[in-house]
Amino acid sequence: MMKLGDIMELQEAIAARRSIRKYEKKDVPEDLLEKLIYAATLAPSGHNRQPWQFQIIKGELKDKIADTLLKKTENIPASTAPHTAGIIKEAPVLIAVYLTENNEENYLYDILSIGGAIENMLLTATSLGLGSLWIGNTSHIEEELKDILHTDYRVASTVAIGYPLQNPHARPRKPLEEVLRK
Ligand SMILES: Cc1cc2nc3c(=O)[nH]c(=O)nc-3n(C[C@H](O)[C@H](O)[C@H](O)COP(=O)(O)O)c2cc1C
Repeated sequence: MMKLGDIMELQEAIAARRSIRKYEKKDVPEDLLEKLIYAATLAPSGHNRQPWQFQIIKGELKDKIADTLLKKTENIPASTAPHTAGIIKEAPVLIAVYLTENNEENYLYDILSIGGAIENMLLTATSLGLGSLWIGNTSHIEEELKDILHTDYRVASTVAIGYPLQNPHARPRKPLEEVLRK
């Protein structure tokens, strides 16, 4: 069995994870990236359908995704997407998370399962000293991504990965009293 990082306790990784939007210009070793994907595959999934595939994207292909996103969204008022496009361009690695099932009956299960897989990836990245950003903005170019990545599968999300060049404060969270119904 592949060994995941044991540098950090789980609670520590959960608390330390941040969305990282600035990365060092330094490549990430392939074995670390494979650990992230392996961690993703350990997530629970509805009926154990494992409705996912992952692709590690770097270099020109990654830049093409960034450029396409920027071009498509640069004139949308107040959109965060152009900024996200810049982050994709700067990050050394982008992981595409494909939804490999197209079944309306299981859609909610499949999307929830993919969310769990992504969170496993992010926490493992934190435990390995890597920064990560869960990116939903690539949904602006959902159709274009099918062309760029030569697939019929939907890209549910992308995740930027790299060595962090920032150490952001925790974003505010709703207090427990507000989210825990009595
Ligand atoms: C489904 C999803 C989509 C997201 N998409 C983006 C995105 O496209 N661009 C971005 O900069 N951040 C994106 N984020 C990151 C959130 O903005 C971030 O998780 C939130 O502000 C809390 O900050 P934290 O992750 O540092 O705790 C996304 C997060 C999730 C869960």
